Amino acid sequence: MLLNKLLKTGERPRPPTLSYWRNPGLLSIALFLGSTVYAQSDLGIAQYNSSNELLYPANLDEWIQTGASLGGEYSDNAFDPESPGNIGIVQMEPTAYRYFMQHHSYADGTMFLLSFYKGEGKSEPQLPGFVQGDLLAQEIHVIDKARFTEGRGFFLFRTPAPTSSVKVADGSECVACHNEHADFDGTFSQFYPTIRAHLQD
Ligand code: HEC
Repeated sequence: MLLNKLLKTGERPRPPTLSYWRNPGLLSIALFLGSTVYAQSDLGIAQYNSSNELLYPANLDEWIQTGASLGGEYSDNAFDPESPGNIGIVQMEPTAYRYFMQHHSYADGTMFLLSFYKGEGKSEPQLPGFVQGDLLAQEIHVIDKARFTEGRGFFLFRTPAPTSSVKVADGSECVACHNEHADFDGTFSQFYPTIRAHLQD
């Protein structure tokens, strides 16, 4: 969400201040905890560079679609059927999706992607509705109770050719809204048919 903001703001969130490399003791504690406490539930699919930036996943075309929305970006204007705004597509990383289907919970490293496409009308052969036009921007939500103090990290990717992204700083409106309004573990499962059906089993 917050596409307008994402497209307009040039601000880059600050990277985390804790440096394992300046304190080898911290690194060994982290590795120890990582290998004992969290190994079972960490999918290891979210990849980071040495600056803790999330690498843009290479296999997004294989991710599973969980939801779609039209005109979901924030605006003070009323919804206009002639110009309904962007189409938002939500996808989930496939290993994380399979884990969720089996356990009814998210493993550490679970990733959701929200991509915004231009809503395009007047397509040929003419149908009265709207189809996906150009890709405008993407956001990834990583759920990871071991890695992030807030239990989740949000990352913004601009097009074209994104490579990596700094985590949105703690205390963001992303985390606040998701924690307050999303139905399941900070994700808007209420809008994702396969996910919500599975939670009702
Ligand atoms: C005021 C509420 C609100 C805020 C603030 C918000 N979101 Fe969301 N977000 C939503 C809603 C509602 C959805 C459901 C999908 C849709 O409607 O497009 C969603 C879905 C998502 C998803 C898909 C996975 C999921 O968690 O359900 C991602 C990724 C995402 N948002 C990223 C972000 C990022 C990054 C920010 C901050 C820059 C942010 N959101 C801020 C309301 C919000």
